[in-house]
Amino acid sequence: MQLQAYTFADTTEIKDLVTRTFSDSEGVDEGKLIGNLAFELLTETPEKDVFCFIAKENNAIIGCIIFSRLIFVRDIQVFILAPVAIATEFQRQGIGQKLIRFGLQTLKLNGIELALTYGDPNYYCKVGFQPISEQHIPAPLKLTYPHGWLAQSLTNNPIPKINEKPKCVRALAKPEYW
Ligand SMILES: CC(C)(COP(=O)(O)OP(=O)(O)OC[C@H]1O[C@@H](n2cnc3c(N)ncnc32)[C@H](O)[C@@H]1OP(=O)(O)O)[C@@H](O)C(=O)NCCC(=O)NCCS
Repeated sequence: MQLQAYTFADTTEIKDLVTRTFSDSEGVDEGKLIGNLAFELLTETPEKDVFCFIAKENNAIIGCIIFSRLIFVRDIQVFILAPVAIATEFQRQGIGQKLIRFGLQTLKLNGIELALTYGDPNYYCKVGFQPISEQHIPAPLKLTYPHGWLAQSLTNNPIPKINEKPKCVRALAKPEYW
């Protein structure tokens, strides 16, 4: 298996992987929704505001993670991880955790100071995230599951308290994702 940054030519294969994976786990409608989210994140977001990493096996993309920028007025480099998809037949082999660690390491090397995500704490705590409150760092949109709001510092400092609501990129700025 290889872990690497995506290239623009991978976009359609990534959309198909995300659509298939979420259709299997959450149903066809959710599959389409999150597949479109992945596509829009990759096609509508300025290059400086998005990172995408893929896992490849036999030249096929079997896993994908996307980080996009959260914009604060104060000077801090923050990205949010969403979505994460590992092809159904490759799940529970540690690939998700390896890919997320690889992505976080690359963000760190690029000077990103803080990573957030919104998902199952039981899973994301395995790769260094911890639950935070919206008093600690506000979310850009109203959270349906506040217990899924998670963060990790990518520096030697603790997770900073930020008294400011960030903006997310346009593709993520839809209430149905939150
Ligand atoms: C969730 C997902 C990304 C995990 O990737 P993965 O490569 O299968 O996970 P790993 O092999 O790295 O880690 C496995 C461990 O994580 C936990 N885990 C796996 N899937 C989980 C899930 N859906 N919820 C909670 N914990 C999960 C389990 O503890 C598992 O360990 P176990 O097999 O010993 O019980 C993958 O299953 C997936 O793409 N699921 C469908 C889409 C999705 O739900 N994406 C995340 C929301 S954005």
